[in-house]
Parts: sequence; C-alpha cells; structure tokens
Amino acid sequence: MIRVRIPATTANLGPGFDCMGLALDLWNTFELHLKDGADRFLVHSDGEGIGQLPPDERNLVVQVMQEELAHLGEEPLRGARIVAHNEVPAISGLGSSSTATLAGVLFAHAIAKHRHHHDPTDLDLHFVLDRAVAIEGHGDNVAPALLGGFVVVMPDESGVLTQRVPHVPIKTVVCVPDFHFPTHAARAALPELYKKSDAIYNIGRAMLVAEALRSGDDVMLQRAMNDRIHEPYRLPLIPGGKEAKAAALEAGALAVALSGAGPGIIAFARSGYDRIGRAMKNAFTAAELESRYWVLDVSPSGTHIGRLPV
Ligand code: HSE
Repeated sequence: MIRVRIPATTANLGPGFDCMGLALDLWNTFELHLKDGADRFLVHSDGEGIGQLPPDERNLVVQVMQEELAHLGEEPLRGARIVAHNEVPAISGLGSSSTATLAGVLFAHAIAKHRHHHDPTDLDLHFVLDRAVAIEGHGDNVAPALLGGFVVVMPDESGVLTQRVPHVPIKTVVCVPDFHFPTHAARAALPELYKKSDAIYNIGRAMLVAEALRSGDDVMLQRAMNDRIHEPYRLPLIPGGKEAKAAALEAGALAVALSGAGPGIIAFARSGYDRIGRAMKNAFTAAELESRYWVLDVSPSGTHIGRLPV
C-alpha cells in the first residue's frame, strides 16, 4: 500500500543533547503490503541487521504500528507483509531504530487514512512527528529523519517545537565499532542532575554549533563542538572511543562527536575522508574491536512517502 524511505540520522552533534540532529545520506526502506499475509505478520528484512531482526509481530515496525493504531482509536491489523531494506547499521548511533519507529507511525497513519477512504500518502506530518517523538522520548533522530537536513527539536506541552536550520554542505565520516552499546544502556549511564556550569557550557556551545553549521564557520565548529552532558559519561564505556575521537582530529577532522548515543563516532570534515575513517578504524582495532566507516553527505531531504498498488 505504501513505501517509506527514511534516512539515517546523527543526533546530539556534540553539545545539542536530545535537541539537534542531522539527516545523513544512508537509507532504510519499508514497504507495507496489506493484502498478503492477512492473518499474520511477515517481515522480510534484507541488508543491515539481516537475520537479527524479528520476522513477525515482534518486529519494532509492527509493534509501533499496532500501538499507534490503538492511539488513533483504530482496530489493530490482523496481519500484513512488510518488506524492509536496511542500509543503516543497527545499534550504531545512526538512528536505525528511529527509522523503524517512524515507519510504524507512518504506516498506522496511512492505514487510518486508507480505512477512511483518503489517500494513504496524504499524511499530517506535524501529527506524525509529535507521535514519533512521544514514542521515542526524544526527537533528535525522528525529526531530521522525517524532515531532512539539520533540525533543532524540542518536545513541548502543545506539540513538538521544531526548526529546520539551513546549513552549508559538509561531509561526515562515521566509524561504527562492533560493540554492543544500545541506547537504553547509553542513557542509563547519564546522571540525573548536572552542575550549572556544565549546563551553561552546553547551552552556549549548542547555539554556536548551529550557527557554525549555518554559516560555514569551520573554526567556530571546531571550537564549539564539545559536550559535558553525555560524552564524558559514555565515551569511556566504548573501548577505543576516546582514542578514535582523538585520531580523527589528528587526521584532519574539523570536529568529532559521539554519533547519537554511540557507539559510532562522527567526524565533520572538508577533505581527507578516508584518512579520517582509517584513523578511527585503527584506534578501534588497537582496542581489539572490528569497525566499519562510512563517508556520508548530509541529506537535505527527509522521509520519502510513496504509494504502492495495494
Ligand atoms: N539524544 C539521544 C541520546 C540520541 O543521546 O541518547 C539517541 O540516538
């Protein structure tokens, strides 16, 4: 019935914990076919995470879709076939589970439209975003995944506050070690309370990172992309993480941060992408971890929504 193509994202961008994210040019595609498998769910996944993702109703896309149908006051689906093609590595810090959450919300809203004889692709994206942020608990992956580009996002009592910030083109190198560091563990590592000086340190730098990306002020980006809210607590838990960050800077990256909750490390650069990628990889190898790296553009476009015959 519907196909959604959703980009990878990198959240936080150093000091913008839970509030800033970028869409990256690496994509997961999900198709919902209503007619096939009407009495059960079949989820066929290929690409990244193959063999690890549940092929049935335990799949995150199905779970979110069913919960969202209930939220919309709609009957749950009894079955469907979902086809997923994944380019985004799982548990990497590149928002792969956010692509599944967003797909589940989009599918639920599309089904509701279809049942009420409306075009299933004609969705209220503000409503979709509010719901995806509510389900995920923070918007810095789902908002750029939906809207594309560089997004500042804050949950608010009256809906999500979000702003797409124009930015100059910039490339990223993301190195992901083969280390199990799921977001819930990475969030559990953070303190409940912070010192006022750490909050001030981050508020100012988050604004400066946004402005540096907007204006292309690389010197400012270099100086501002530092954090005291999450990286000091998370990086030491990732073997080779601190060393990979230092190695990327040494190899010529402008600025380097933990990508989302990690374990991936993201470097912003103007040249020498493979040199930076190899430097990060070597640091993880020295910590006895396999790793892979990707050289990625920021994606100006977010989720593509297309109609399938049935
Ligand atoms: N802002 C979130 C975190 C992103 O750092 O926990 C998770 O991808």
